[in-house]
Amino acid sequence: WKNGLGYKTPPMGWNPYNAFNNAFNETLIKQQADIIANQGYLAVGYRYINLDDGWQASERTNDNKLSPNSSKFPSGIKDLADYMHKNGLLFGIYSDAGNPTCGGQPGSLDYEDTDAQTFVDWDVDYLKYDNCNEQERPERERYQKMGNALKNATAGKNKTIFYNICEWGTSDPWLWGPDAGGNSWRTTPDIIAFWPSIISIIDSQVRLTEYGESRRGWNDPDMLVLGFDRIPYEEQVTHYAFWAAMKAPLILGCDLTKVTNETKALILNKDIISVNQDPLGLSVCQVYYRTDNKSSFDIWTGPLNDGYAAILFNRGIEPISITLDFKEHCHLNGSIEVYDLVKQQTYGGYTNNYTAVDIPKHGVEFIKLIGGNRIDDNRTCLNYS
Ligand code: GLA
Repeated sequence: WKNGLGYKTPPMGWNPYNAFNNAFNETLIKQQADIIANQGYLAVGYRYINLDDGWQASERTNDNKLSPNSSKFPSGIKDLADYMHKNGLLFGIYSDAGNPTCGGQPGSLDYEDTDAQTFVDWDVDYLKYDNCNEQERPERERYQKMGNALKNATAGKNKTIFYNICEWGTSDPWLWGPDAGGNSWRTTPDIIAFWPSIISIIDSQVRLTEYGESRRGWNDPDMLVLGFDRIPYEEQVTHYAFWAAMKAPLILGCDLTKVTNETKALILNKDIISVNQDPLGLSVCQVYYRTDNKSSFDIWTGPLNDGYAAILFNRGIEPISITLDFKEHCHLNGSIEVYDLVKQQTYGGYTNNYTAVDIPKHGVEFIKLIGGNRIDDNRTCLNYS
């Protein structure tokens, strides 16, 4: 089953969980959605406004349907979806392939058809489907059931629902996710807004990059933590560069009323986003890794529709230089123009290699190579498999 969604480029949007946990309501969601729609985010591609756990009433209705917590969502969910659509946005919801959900609300296990129909009735465009309290039934089976239910509920209607399998990578969902109807699958436990979480997620993706691509669907290393105070700017750049180039869904999670100008400019950087939304839809992979007492760094590269992306990543705490060898790391030769995707400037033409200097602590130089010739279509990915 291919519902046509997410097969071209990863979804982009916003979700309240990282900043608000379950303390959100219709006023807050609309406030954040207005910022997305009117302050430049929609214009660069941020489009899905998703709810997370905590939108539900604590009991199903008499006819076994999910319904919203009426003090948080007095106007109902259909009304909220309509609000998004009127503003050019899309609307996502949350449920769980177990019962109850992680936050103790009614889950969808054994109610898949009823709930998928409810989501269609509400004009929902995206489902994040979590994995708490799964009653010891296999992931694959439970996620397939909702995949089938979404397929059936949308069949023959002018409706598609992006299906995010959120089982945290516990049963290798990158292998079966596409067949279960998934458009993306979480590959990791929950992200936390500090460096050790970001670096451990990056490391855990090394062996998975080949599974996230437009032909299948996307690896989801969890939502972005851009805009959180505890993450210095350079680490936010690294986080965004990796998520963009690994073709992760770009789902913001910060309070958009509090984003600094510097972070906002980073989020709205069209060159970074264009790597994520590149029509070729292939992830970068790790091609070089070095760690010794002088420095610790790695190089990730991957083809783009109109060039080649490279991340030169300083894992250490002292600034360093990193040299990208076009032939060895990118299978390219000839004369190559280097474009800095973060600073949005061209450094000129190079042959053989390019050295990035003064890459800061935990920082990257994220570049696009333009021109040159592909030596072959091979890639040299260190996936340790
Ligand atoms: C799980 C998910 C999170 C979030 C919470 C909500 O932990 O992985 O992304 O949805 O549940 O309770």
